[in-house]
Amino acid sequence: MPKICSYEGSDYRKEFWEKGNRTYEDLAERIAIRKLLPPQGSTLVEIGAGFGRLADLYSGYRQVVLLDYAKTMLQDAKSLWGDDPRFTFVAADLYRLPLRSASFQSVVMVRVIHHIQDVPLALSNLRRILADDGVFILEHANKRNLKAIVRYLLRAQKWNPFDREPVEFVPLNYDFHPAWMRERLKEAGFAIEDQLSVSHFRHGVLKRTFSPRFLAKADGAVQRVGAIWKLTPSLILKCTPASKSGQKAPTTPLKPEEMFVCPACGGDLEAEEGGLRCTRCGHTWPLEDGIYNFRMDGEG
Ligand SMILES: C[S@@+](CC[C@H](N)C(=O)[O-])C[C@H]1O[C@@H](n2cnc3c(N)ncnc32)[C@H](O)[C@@H]1O
Repeated sequence: MPKICSYEGSDYRKEFWEKGNRTYEDLAERIAIRKLLPPQGSTLVEIGAGFGRLADLYSGYRQVVLLDYAKTMLQDAKSLWGDDPRFTFVAADLYRLPLRSASFQSVVMVRVIHHIQDVPLALSNLRRILADDGVFILEHANKRNLKAIVRYLLRAQKWNPFDREPVEFVPLNYDFHPAWMRERLKEAGFAIEDQLSVSHFRHGVLKRTFSPRFLAKADGAVQRVGAIWKLTPSLILKCTPASKSGQKAPTTPLKPEEMFVCPACGGDLEAEEGGLRCTRCGHTWPLEDGIYNFRMDGEG
């Protein structure tokens, strides 16, 4: 199995978002996601949801699953969203998703794929859980961004932003060429229906000069035209299934036994005291403090 970039125990919210002065990036991403994600629906899953930063964008969905590998992230998400009965919290690995095929109308993954070593496997898993009438919203880091191009031309950066292969700039942190990602999405069975270029103004001087709200509004105004050139560090894509097999999204919320399958063998699960049990291999998956634990690394 590919390696996982674990955020277990990290203070991602405080260190990255709050101390890192990233209100502008947060607002700009929200503007783009609002444009691409259907505002209402039945079932939605966010993969690598972290502490649930974006979960308020899902207020029109009847059932929302926040899935992440890190249990501490999910504990933070639960402290924010745990009072809302529409939410389910799931500790699991994207490479071994415990979710039933075609069970989601919307799948969202933001700021996660840059940690993914095996993108084809991850994308094919996401295609499997998406219903034929569903949408997949994907944010990915863009290696062919303006800053990387300038740095490369000035010889301040070794890797070539025009080279299509992903670059691993630090271990388990990848930057992707838009054309490479388009190919992988196509191979996994997705068609790109729409795309936006995000974070045009991610620059220290601009961020010190203008308010985050002003910069985000300006970003929102150029996200669509910017997608023609794709020179920003981040791209957000709206993907749909390229071919259909007739599996439509559920119209009503799913019970745990209907939504989950065993990540070890793919078997059906049945509810038992304290969690779920696989009817095929007998593996038990606990529900711990309101978080389903499907991790297979000895933590499960
Ligand atoms: C940079 S954070 C982004 C969190 C959230 N999407 C956001 O934008 O605020 C990346 C998240 O992906 C999760 N992650 C990384 N690899 C994963 C995997 N293989 N399966 C599930 N989650 C994973 C990490 O635990 C972490 O919470």
